[in-house]
Amino acid sequence: MNNLALFELRKKERVPISMVTCYDAWSAKILDQTNVDCLLVGDSLAEIVYGFDSTIHATDEMMALHTAAVARSAKTKFIVADMPFLSCSRGIIHAMKTVEKLMRAGANALKIEGASHKLEIIEHIVTSGIPVMGHLGLQPQAIHNLGGNKVQGKEKAGADQILAEAKELERVGCFSIVLECIPKELGECVTKNLKIPTIGIGAGPKTDGQVLVLHDLLGLDENFSPKFLRKYVHLHKIVSSAVDKYHADVRSCEFPSVSECY
Ligand code: KIV
Repeated sequence: MNNLALFELRKKERVPISMVTCYDAWSAKILDQTNVDCLLVGDSLAEIVYGFDSTIHATDEMMALHTAAVARSAKTKFIVADMPFLSCSRGIIHAMKTVEKLMRAGANALKIEGASHKLEIIEHIVTSGIPVMGHLGLQPQAIHNLGGNKVQGKEKAGADQILAEAKELERVGCFSIVLECIPKELGECVTKNLKIPTIGIGAGPKTDGQVLVLHDLLGLDENFSPKFLRKYVHLHKIVSSAVDKYHADVRSCEFPSVSECY
């Protein structure tokens, strides 16, 4: 199943949803053959693919190009694309241009960080027939306001605000909400108070699903080890030793061999 019904069904049947980021055609091709439920073309690509220091450098063009690359290779997966920095803060007309670009690029749904002043735009996008996933807790696009990548909702006022905003996102029609870096009790509380599923990253085990950045779970950055991350493999070591082996074979003239020549 690769449509909205999947999210409803998973919540109803209490089967956790798995989501992973995907930015390019080669990884989309691999992920399309896995059991993962959903792919996220996250604006984290600004950091992971382009080497910027935050997601505020992701542009409409980057998001559309990467969404199209993923959509060409992952034919069976539900694809969510991130609305990039400021795309929902310049009014409905500007937001709808970005929406159109990402949907025409092949997204099945869009993810929007934050609530408050964006509620009206989210409602407009939803009533235009486009599924929207919310994103609360740590919002990397607001990094300068938050003063860094910090756990959110530790104090009662912050926790109350996240719960209230989650209810508002549900009210305006979001089909699910990502909860990033919040205490596990708050992750559970928001999840229990919503009919739509929550998908956590650093939000504890009681959300309706989990999301991780593919590069993080594959251990491609040996220096990135936040508490919430489980590395399923240490690809950094595997990739660098494969490339060193290739380099050594070239130097010693062992590559290419006779059987590798035309
Ligand atoms: O951009 C991204 O990768 C995300 C996930 C961390 C949820 O928004």
